[in-house]
Amino acid sequence: MTDAAENTHTVTVIGLGEMGHALAGAFLDGGHPTTVWNRTAGKAGDLAARGARSAPDVREAVAAGRLVVVSVKGNDTVQRLLEPAAGTLGGRTVLNLTDGTSAEVRAVADWVTAQGAEYLHGQIMTIAPGIGHADSVVFYGGSEPAYDRHRTTLRLLGGRGRLVAADPGVPVLYGMAVHGTMWGTLNGFLHAAALLASEGIEAERFLDGAGASVSALLSFLPSIAAEVDRGEHAAPYGALRHHLPSVEDLVRESRARGVDAELPGFTRDLVAAAIEGGYADDSYSRLVDHFGKP
Ligand SMILES: NC(=O)c1ccc[n+]([C@@H]2O[C@H](COP(=O)([O-])OP(=O)(O)OC[C@H]3O[C@@H](n4cnc5c(N)ncnc54)[C@H](OP(=O)(O)O)[C@@H]3O)[C@@H](O)[C@H]2O)c1
Repeated sequence: MTDAAENTHTVTVIGLGEMGHALAGAFLDGGHPTTVWNRTAGKAGDLAARGARSAPDVREAVAAGRLVVVSVKGNDTVQRLLEPAAGTLGGRTVLNLTDGTSAEVRAVADWVTAQGAEYLHGQIMTIAPGIGHADSVVFYGGSEPAYDRHRTTLRLLGGRGRLVAADPGVPVLYGMAVHGTMWGTLNGFLHAAALLASEGIEAERFLDGAGASVSALLSFLPSIAAEVDRGEHAAPYGALRHHLPSVEDLVRESRARGVDAELPGFTRDLVAAAIEGGYADDSYSRLVDHFGKP
């Protein structure tokens, strides 16, 4: 299908919460005839004025769209909502943008494809106001032909969307991996901010002086990733035995200042256990063994 033809195809959005509303708006802005449905009536807001058609029930909503987008809470809800429209799903593409675990998403994918529809899962990596931005990321997984067919439409949601796997459970894991890295980083930074505050140093002032050092941390990730993938953790420099005294200093400094030491204490325990396990000369990447344990 040409881009021009795709830009005219019909889209249905089921679920008009904060995210669903933004998604429907992006499809309307992109020129797609858009039908919407929401459990609680009256949530279409400005969408009707922008040209959206409200369907009276899910079956009619599904029947109106070649691309059926679902954005609700919980993947059990996704399947329950689509069940009355099961006979109408054949030949359509369902794009599920509802967060969940990989197993929950795969269960929905199996059910949808059993109804004769193609399935895509999308893991949205932005908040609702970021929908439609050129630099917003959505990780997709599922049917490659469906992704290719709807590529131009999907670009309306975020300029940096990409298909990461044919398995619809994989984008969920990508999202969790990004969020897990984010929370670990933010926890470390907020502990650091509390430590600095105990000395009267504002976090912004710290970043003015040390921002480049903090940003440079991300440049370590490719070499850490390579070590993890190869299971090779030899460290010519910066071995675990060099980390231990520094993290012990951080624990003692935190305690002395009345700053919670649980987070650096956790790191200290991981490093000490790896050293006791015989890995004193290994890189920090060796700690993946701890996280990989059942
Ligand atoms: N908001 C964000 O910034 C953001 C960012 C990334 C991902 N997401 C994901 O996007 C999805 C939607 O989130 P949201 O922020 O739009 O949530 P929300 O504002 O709380 O809206 C929830 C939507 O789900 C519907 N819903 C919930 N339970 C339902 C049920 N049992 N049957 C039918 N409809 C039901 C609600 O319908 P009613 O109006 O009838 O209650 C509403 O349309 C979630 O998976 C969320 O994790 C959101």
